[in-house]
Amino acid sequence: MVDSTAFLGALDRKAKWLAPAARATFASNQQLGSWLLDPLARWASAAYGDGVFDDAARGYARYCLGVAKAQQVYEQAGKYTPEALPDVISEVYEDEGYMVPYMWAAILIYPFWPSMVNHLALYRDDFLRALAPNAKVLETAAGHGVMGLMAAEERPDIAVEGIDISPPAVAVANRILKASRHDSRVTFRVKNALDIAQQTGKQYQGIIAAMLAEHLEDPRPLFRAIAHLLADDGIVFFSTAIESAQRDHVYEFNNESEPLKMAEDAGLRVTRLVSDASAPPTGARFLPRATAMILRRR
Ligand SMILES: C[S@@+](CC[C@H](N)C(=O)[O-])C[C@H]1O[C@@H](n2cnc3c(N)ncnc32)[C@H](O)[C@@H]1O
Repeated sequence: MVDSTAFLGALDRKAKWLAPAARATFASNQQLGSWLLDPLARWASAAYGDGVFDDAARGYARYCLGVAKAQQVYEQAGKYTPEALPDVISEVYEDEGYMVPYMWAAILIYPFWPSMVNHLALYRDDFLRALAPNAKVLETAAGHGVMGLMAAEERPDIAVEGIDISPPAVAVANRILKASRHDSRVTFRVKNALDIAQQTGKQYQGIIAAMLAEHLEDPRPLFRAIAHLLADDGIVFFSTAIESAQRDHVYEFNNESEPLKMAEDAGLRVTRLVSDASAPPTGARFLPRATAMILRRR
């Protein structure tokens, strides 16, 4: 039976320079990391075969290199310098060769990066375990789909509707979905998260908006859509990158108070917040961090 050690072993083989730090973060949060990676290892090998672990490790290495380079450019420029959004859509979100390795990295950073691991705790303990019985959950920007699948794994009573703008990401999510056998309660389809507010008459007891806001030209409509679609007893798991440059990070947040204020302006209230930094090089002017919040209706 495969488990989280399959991902760690692949890092030793294919991303040696990153393996010690990833292993250290995983070891300090082993129970939480295994909560995610044990089922994911089973689903990934059933969906793609055992070569998937080396592919995931290569994707993780390429992503970490890209992040380090983008952060250097950011330090020099003093602001994010993203490509125009239509180019990001065609060259990132619609490009299978770019998107599939990126999706492996996007999920592996949760147990392997110190700035992300507390998001997992908040997600599991304060979002999934707090959802109302039989909750209907919307996942915006589901990407690889693993957050939504972990919701179904943790809560056998809930149903998840996942959307993402990227066709190759949705294909990955659907392939893992089939292997997970949660397909009676989880769906993934291609859709722009900014178009969901036009859905009429549908409300959700849970909404996930993980690492999406920084990909938008303006995140305010996302918060308004979330407020519109959230049931009275609903809860939201929201997360975003702060002062972290990447090829497809379009909106630059410099302070935790910025997404928090946007949520409040949309009629939401923040009931929990975590924010952690990665270690920047000495003398850096920007401090890359990732923040996650639980939101409710005001
Ligand atoms: C960093 S990944 C996050 C994936 C996942 N939510 C997670 O936390 O690992 C960003 C995702 O946002 C998606 N995305 C970007 N703009 C979007 C939009 N306007 N509507 C829906 N998805 C979008 C991308 O395709 C990508 O899958």
